[in-house]
Amino acid sequence: MTGNELRRKFLAFFKSKGHLILDSHSLIPENDPTLLLIGAGMAPFKPFFTGKMQPPHRRVSTCQKCVRTGDIENVGRTARHQTFFEMLGNFSFGDYFKKEAITWAWEFLTQVIELPADKLWVTIHTEDDEAFAIWVNEVGFPAERIVRLEDNFWEIGTGPCGPCSEIYIDLGEERGCGSDTCGVGCDCDRYLEIWNLVFTQFNRDEAGNYTPLAHKNIDTGAGLERIASVLQNKPSNFETDLLFPIIEYTMKLGQLTYGQSANTDVSLKVIADHARSMTIMVADGILPSNEGRGYVLRRILRRAVRHARLLGIHQPFLAGAVDTAIEIFHEAYPELQEQAAYIKRIIELEEKRFDETLQQGTELLNKEIVELRNAGKKVLAGETAFKLYDTFGFPWELTNEILSEAGITLDKEAFDASMHQQRDRARKARQESSEQMLIPDLSRLVDTKLSADATVKQSSSVLLLKDGKVVTEARDGDDVAIILAVTPFYAEGGGQVGDSGVMIAQTGRAIITNAKKLPDGTIYHMGHIVEGQIETGQLMEVTVDEERHFACARNHTATHILQSVLREVLGTHVKQSGSFVGPDRLRFDFSHFSAVTVEELERIETLVNEAVLADHVVDKMETTLEEAKKLGAIALFGEKYGDRVRVITVEGVSREFCGGSHIDHTSQIGFFRIIAETGIGSGLRRIEAVTGKAALELAVQERKSLQEAAALLKARPEEVNSKLASLLEHVKGLEHELVAAQKKLAGSVVDDLLKNIQQIGTAQVVVEEVVAKDMDELRSMADLVRDHISFGAVVLGAVNGEKVNFVAMTTGTAAKKLLHAGNIVKEAAKVAGGGGGGRPDMAQAGGKNPEKIAAALGKAQEMIVSQLAKA
Ligand code: SER
Repeated sequence: MTGNELRRKFLAFFKSKGHLILDSHSLIPENDPTLLLIGAGMAPFKPFFTGKMQPPHRRVSTCQKCVRTGDIENVGRTARHQTFFEMLGNFSFGDYFKKEAITWAWEFLTQVIELPADKLWVTIHTEDDEAFAIWVNEVGFPAERIVRLEDNFWEIGTGPCGPCSEIYIDLGEERGCGSDTCGVGCDCDRYLEIWNLVFTQFNRDEAGNYTPLAHKNIDTGAGLERIASVLQNKPSNFETDLLFPIIEYTMKLGQLTYGQSANTDVSLKVIADHARSMTIMVADGILPSNEGRGYVLRRILRRAVRHARLLGIHQPFLAGAVDTAIEIFHEAYPELQEQAAYIKRIIELEEKRFDETLQQGTELLNKEIVELRNAGKKVLAGETAFKLYDTFGFPWELTNEILSEAGITLDKEAFDASMHQQRDRARKARQESSEQMLIPDLSRLVDTKLSADATVKQSSSVLLLKDGKVVTEARDGDDVAIILAVTPFYAEGGGQVGDSGVMIAQTGRAIITNAKKLPDGTIYHMGHIVEGQIETGQLMEVTVDEERHFACARNHTATHILQSVLREVLGTHVKQSGSFVGPDRLRFDFSHFSAVTVEELERIETLVNEAVLADHVVDKMETTLEEAKKLGAIALFGEKYGDRVRVITVEGVSREFCGGSHIDHTSQIGFFRIIAETGIGSGLRRIEAVTGKAALELAVQERKSLQEAAALLKARPEEVNSKLASLLEHVKGLEHELVAAQKKLAGSVVDDLLKNIQQIGTAQVVVEEVVAKDMDELRSMADLVRDHISFGAVVLGAVNGEKVNFVAMTTGTAAKKLLHAGNIVKEAAKVAGGGGGGRPDMAQAGGKNPEKIAAALGKAQEMIVSQLAKA
């Protein structure tokens, strides 16, 4: 039985059981960010299981195209692993349940495709007595061939899931591993799982919770290629008519024989599987790129090319493999034939692109492997893997795979780090290059009739520029300038930023970051190709980022109103000297002799908002220069205007010459807020403002800050001001109290010191260790003590962390002669590992050894005593 017949029979059988037969869904999931690619028959139906959407019928059957790349490195090495496969399935959305699912599966297997009943085995979930009873009582299946397994529970990431029952076929002892424990579930080839019946009862969420679904469902999946291998009596899926023709194609091309060398067979199988995957992926609209699905495609394709090289095939070969794949698939997916030329074109381009560097990359990698081996090392540096990726287009997984064949691993962390750095660099470079892109003189190259029309949705690319040169094609990763026959993009000018958006051609997609004008008025778009490639002459779908465009329009109209209000509030001397209109804010520079006061700013803001609320019509008119002047439109000083000009009128408010984007009614501005007013030169002021969403966001932000402040003050928002004022008053009081307390404290210390006055002859002497936070405090203490002494000396020391401070003062004329403060403190500080000195009546010093303070003060005392004795 051919694969096509099997597919047909399966769908016909379930049609006879009341199922609606649906076409396979595209490989690209719809509204499901959790999935990169459809990898199971049930995946497109998740919303039907969860009840989020109504199914077109409660019984559905499909043959679904699936891609799984989780263990891509096993492809070709086992009988079953594939990246692309077709899954036959029947589904019940709250309709039938276990009994029908089990009995129909049995009927199809044993009666329609006539598999030997005595070779079939069944597994069920350990606790699923219901399924057990159905298998035994309804089907009459021998209980001894039913195996209960704990992990018979099917789920794929988040979404609908449940316990399952799998059907296996015993392919005979000769296909087994011979081990005593060999049985259903063994890794060897003897027992082959051919059908999985899932009793979908739960929904698994991101957090790993299982919630019962409102109704019970059925989701079954039977691998088309697996069953075909059984029916066609082949040792693996690769020998079936669903894959083997591609192996034959490659064999012929490389003059190879199948089944003689294990390595050759692996490469032949890899190519067969990957050719099918890439064919269907491209047909479903995926283009090679460095991200997401596009990266999966690129990786599969490049892996296939490398295996062809291993087989000694050096010429481009994928187009032929694609032809063969289309031959295999065209009955099931007739649209492939119509797309054949397109699919081959995309694949050939990517093949060619990789081919250009594969040889060099392989040589580099082989050299690295030899060097690592010689050095007895087992890990390849991440930077080298990154170079292979960046320069030679080796997906890291491919490098990893080649390494693992040589028993070497990859420093993935370092690879990732290099990758991040490169992304940052590229982002920066892109920003810069979009500013500096060189645009050659195009006057001879383009027809100057190229025009702008905001309503255009499609246009053809007239000219492509890369690195300042005209090219006919550019591909993913390239920064380009694109010129269209007619464009809906607003080009940077009149202070307003250029539009951004997307351009999609059949073969590629570009993100447009800005649009600018050449001196002759031709608009060019600066962009980055993110997928596939773009060519001159191609028809493109062009989409402007409308939200951003509209935000600019709001700000632009607001700028006109602002100018008119400024003239009203500040005077008619106000003239525009520059402006900036972006999506997030506006800036307006104008002549005015002094700073705008807070009251004036408030008035300006209010008047602009009044014009917004008045919902004036904004009229856009093209007219002659003369007519516009007659109407009194404000022109920008120094600007040259052509014969025909555009005049923007905000009815009753303003009339200006302007080529920019504007809204239709002033109320569309929503809300206008001034965020800053500054001077930018003599007689020049600048107002920055926001409108629309940005103004709302600002208000939300302000409210949040106020609420946070209120929470800190334990007050209501409207009480923040009074609460803050009384708090500040309170703080002031505390500061006064603190100063008074400190004074009092110092006073009491001084009192204590005065109690310890030594009477040496007629002199009064104080030498003490005290607590003082710094030299200033120490000095003022000494001052206070000295005030109480008419003839004598004060020496104080205090420890400050790692240091020690000393102050010495003498008083009374006689003392000044007898006792030299500078000398005393100098000698004392020496003892504490420091130095200093000063005048005879006042000196200070520091030391590094606080533990020596007592000894140092002892020295001071000694000096005073001996100096007095000399008198
Ligand atoms: N969802 C299950 C599987 O993919 C049955 O269709 O195996």
